[in-house]
Amino acid sequence: MARPALPMEQTEAGLPERVTIWEVGPRDGLQNEKTVVPVEVKAEFIRRLLAAGLPIVEATSFVHPRWVPQLADAAELMSGLGEAGRDLPVLVPNERGLDRALELGLRHVAIFGSATETFAQRNLNRDLESQFAMFEPTVRRAREAGLDVRAYVSMCFGDPWEGAVPIEQVVMVGCRLLDLGASQLSLGDTIGVGTPGHVTALVRAFAAAGVGTERLAVHFHDTYGQALANAHAALLAGVTTFDASAGGLGGCPYAESATGNLATEDLVWMLRGLGVESGVDLPALVATSVWMAEQLGRPSPSRVVQALGTRGAESGA
Ligand code: HMG
Ligand code: MG
Repeated sequence: MARPALPMEQTEAGLPERVTIWEVGPRDGLQNEKTVVPVEVKAEFIRRLLAAGLPIVEATSFVHPRWVPQLADAAELMSGLGEAGRDLPVLVPNERGLDRALELGLRHVAIFGSATETFAQRNLNRDLESQFAMFEPTVRRAREAGLDVRAYVSMCFGDPWEGAVPIEQVVMVGCRLLDLGASQLSLGDTIGVGTPGHVTALVRAFAAAGVGTERLAVHFHDTYGQALANAHAALLAGVTTFDASAGGLGGCPYAESATGNLATEDLVWMLRGLGVESGVDLPALVATSVWMAEQLGRPSPSRVVQALGTRGAESGA
């Protein structure tokens, strides 16, 4: 018997009609691959994700190529995408990264801060306080040039070196990043240790500090199998922007315990069941992840891709 192509719809009180999925597969997914994916495959992945209805596709990072060799082809990728790539967000840690993005006429960048001292050292090569000095001119100049700036904060729910991370510390770092001029703050569970009650508490703590859910996004990694439950908790708490990665690709090369992001397909399945619109064409997305898994030579960890993979391309549902 064929597997259902869509869930039965049953809504729940208090949910938004629509949410935005911020696709991070080409950046967060491919930054962690053991091999470097050819630039034409990356471009095709991005085009297919856009064609599947993902409204925002984070494309790559303008970081030091020695730090993340997997994305060393960022300039080649973005110039190859041409006008279609101009509004796709890219990560920039500093002014050098911003200059590289500006040279290509890009219009959307994201900085990425750390809620903990150790990860700031390991990921950005500076202490927690110094990260703000690096981001301040980066955000100011990006804004002056008319760019939109997102800010990430990593290790919001736990840190592999420091253990528990106090909620007040996450809120302090997050608010300082927003104060620099970022339009949105994405709360990263870099190593996937968070649980739903913790998500609710963190969103409430930001609200108490004057940051409403309209300025927040959530970014869950699925290391402990909590990502979808955490996304549901965030949805109930009023968050309407969700980071996810097609096929569940992902991780952070500077946090060994980080594995794949919440799979976009798993998120879309849940949203469809809840009657929350995301604009994503699930069969087209599954077909994209099946294709990408073939390029990478291993199956996708996404449960929905596994369930629908063999029929994803032809179901058209
Ligand atoms: P640094 O070595 O302290 O940099 O690295 P520096 O400013 O001292 O400069 C040293 C040299 O690097 C100079 O070259 C610079 O020009 C060059 P030299 O004069 O010696 O020839 N340089 C650059 N070159 C190209 N692009 C640049 C750049 N910056 C400096 N942007 C730096 C500091 C931040 C650059 C480095 O630590 C770095 O690149 N880190 C990136 C780490 C990273 O990408 N991690 C993964 C993304 S974060 C993540 O995945 C988490 C997230 O998903 C959310 C979550 O899950 O929590 C977002
Ligand atoms: Mg991440």
